[in-house]
Amino acid sequence: MVAERPVRRLQIPSRAGAYEVLIAEGACQPDAFAGDLLERAPHVAVVTQPNVYDLHGARLVAALPVEPSRLTVLTMGQGERAKSLRSAERLWRSLLQRGFTRDSVVVALGGGVVGDMAGFVAATLLRGVAWVNVPTTLLAQVDAAVGGKTGINVLEGRNLVGAFHPPRLVVVDTSLLKTLPARQVRSGLGEVVKYGIGVDEEVWNLCLTRLPEGACDQDVVGACLAAKARVVAADEHEGGLRRSLNLGHTLGHAIEAAAPGRLGHGEAVAVGLRFVLALSRRLQRCDEAFAAAAEAMLDRTNLVRSVPAGLTFADLEAFLQRDKKVSRRGLTWMLPVAPGRCEAVDGTPRADLTAAFAAVAGPVRPLGTARNCR
Ligand SMILES: NC(=O)c1ccc[n+]([C@@H]2O[C@H](COP(=O)([O-])OP(=O)(O)OC[C@H]3O[C@@H](n4cnc5c(N)ncnc54)[C@H](O)[C@@H]3O)[C@@H](O)[C@H]2O)c1
Ligand SMILES: [Zn+2]
Repeated sequence: MVAERPVRRLQIPSRAGAYEVLIAEGACQPDAFAGDLLERAPHVAVVTQPNVYDLHGARLVAALPVEPSRLTVLTMGQGERAKSLRSAERLWRSLLQRGFTRDSVVVALGGGVVGDMAGFVAATLLRGVAWVNVPTTLLAQVDAAVGGKTGINVLEGRNLVGAFHPPRLVVVDTSLLKTLPARQVRSGLGEVVKYGIGVDEEVWNLCLTRLPEGACDQDVVGACLAAKARVVAADEHEGGLRRSLNLGHTLGHAIEAAAPGRLGHGEAVAVGLRFVLALSRRLQRCDEAFAAAAEAMLDRTNLVRSVPAGLTFADLEAFLQRDKKVSRRGLTWMLPVAPGRCEAVDGTPRADLTAAFAAVAGPVRPLGTARNCR
């Protein structure tokens, strides 16, 4: 099949070697995968989930330059629980039993869970084999697919075991998003707005006219990826500029930890974005017009506006302290300052934090129904 729109190509420099990201509606077709990497590989293993394979597996397999005798399809389970050492071991062993060698290739077909797991298995098997990522959720397309982070969860926390192991190729086909459930679209939408508000002005301009319907459009996804690529290129390992990608995530992660399962990741990030906008406005880091336009953008997305009922700032504080961005000077907040731009601020007085929290506070539960969310 021919891609319906011109393919956007991004080159991502990385210490492990540059890799290409192809973005188009309909990008998952033979041209995208042509070349020695897959044509010469003794073995190619597609790692996916049964539901994703049912929807899009045939299309991928038809596009891969790999005849059936060299191709294996392996499936894994759903959700964070499947990003486990147990699943990794099952995949390592299945690949070895099928004669996987160092020049064989793993191809991930799925959302962030599949990408993180397939990438981790590729990073560790035989001390590292090549992998190709075909992300199928909005979150994975605009965020997880670029940057080279791979990993699994352990009981002590999420993504605590892993490796930087960039894929050799990423094929982003936005037509694969048409089958995505609404909740999964919302999860990616929170990230799209994050890029617009604090990371990239091109995304900001697109968000002003395209959201919410256009979140899965090739232009919007491409602009988000280009923004992430620019940040990652400047700063491959976690550090300064890369922190802008965490805009809205400090409070968002605390909400997810304090009230597990109540909000999706993108929804928690959207609440986090409202909070940092309120804080930025209060600390006079941004002008009123920008903050109002950013809030209006969030309103248009119809993402959740407040933390789950009954959750107070005090409830979230314990979780905020565990954030990676706590230093000796206290918690660092990334604050939006202008369209597509944010700045790190630390030493913020608690009174300002609690005042800004009023912008996202949920309804207080009536007496007797309050639950301890920890
Ligand atoms: N490596 C990184 O840089 C990075 C960045 C952000 C998030 N992540 C990780 O990504 C994970 C979350 O990823 P996610 O939000 O994509 O969730 P997910 O991978 O769990 O996918 C969500 C659901 O959608 C289904 N699905 C996937 N594609 C579909 C499609 N095209 N049509 C219909 N259903 C489809 C999946 O089977 C799953 O049930 C987390 O584990 C997170 O830690 C990694
Ligand atoms: Zn995120």
